[in-house]
Amino acid sequence: MFTRAIVRPPSQNFADGLTTHKGQPPNHKKAQEQHESYCQALAKCGLTLTHLAPDEAHPDSTFVEDVAVLTKNTAILTRPGAKSREGEVANIRDPLKTFFKSIQEIQSPGTVDGGDICEAANHYFIGLSQRTNEEGAKQLAIFLAQSGHTSTLVDIRAMKTILHLKSGIAAIGEHQLVVMEEMADRPQFRGYEIIRVPPEETYAANCIEVNGQVLIATGFPKLAAALANQGFQYRPLEVSEFQKMDGGLSCLSLRF
Ligand code: GLY
Repeated sequence: MFTRAIVRPPSQNFADGLTTHKGQPPNHKKAQEQHESYCQALAKCGLTLTHLAPDEAHPDSTFVEDVAVLTKNTAILTRPGAKSREGEVANIRDPLKTFFKSIQEIQSPGTVDGGDICEAANHYFIGLSQRTNEEGAKQLAIFLAQSGHTSTLVDIRAMKTILHLKSGIAAIGEHQLVVMEEMADRPQFRGYEIIRVPPEETYAANCIEVNGQVLIATGFPKLAAALANQGFQYRPLEVSEFQKMDGGLSCLSLRF
């Protein structure tokens, strides 16, 4: 069960953040509205929210998940792989100190983006990506082991379709993984019950389960039907403006 989440609304210059999208930039007002609905949904799932101030110095900072990996007792500050995001870590340290006695930190030359880390009960999948390097993954695995957690690496460096591991996978329920088709047969996921996300709905693989409710992006009927078939309650949320900045539902909060 989660009881809390930390969120940071998009800053006015949110559209200046990193993105691979070539189309229309995100609309700030719309992004704010979508963020508010997201926060309301988390609150309805029973979470008490800590709202941080928008941070114009870091336009990607609304994707607050990337700067920390949380276990029950320890907060591990990451070291984001994109230069423009490095400064986001300093701004999450104090809020996390409020809730976690034990704080660890990834050190140079290690890099880790929280979006590459998928928690599945006591186990963590660590994505090796353009943002999370082998040194960062190694340091993180040691911190996780010290907190009593196992981990395995999932190398997505050759994949062109996703930014982070969690752009293509989510752990939900007791032992289920929602996985984009392209990654669904990876040996690391054997033993889990896999809900496959067809290629045309890949973006929807970035869903989150919060206390029994699965939040999914709107407009992805095949995943919605698959979740319903498996008996999951789901709530669709509009996150179009965050999608334009390569972000999604998991990236918008730290849940613990
Ligand atoms: N825009 C999110 C990221 O690239 O980190």
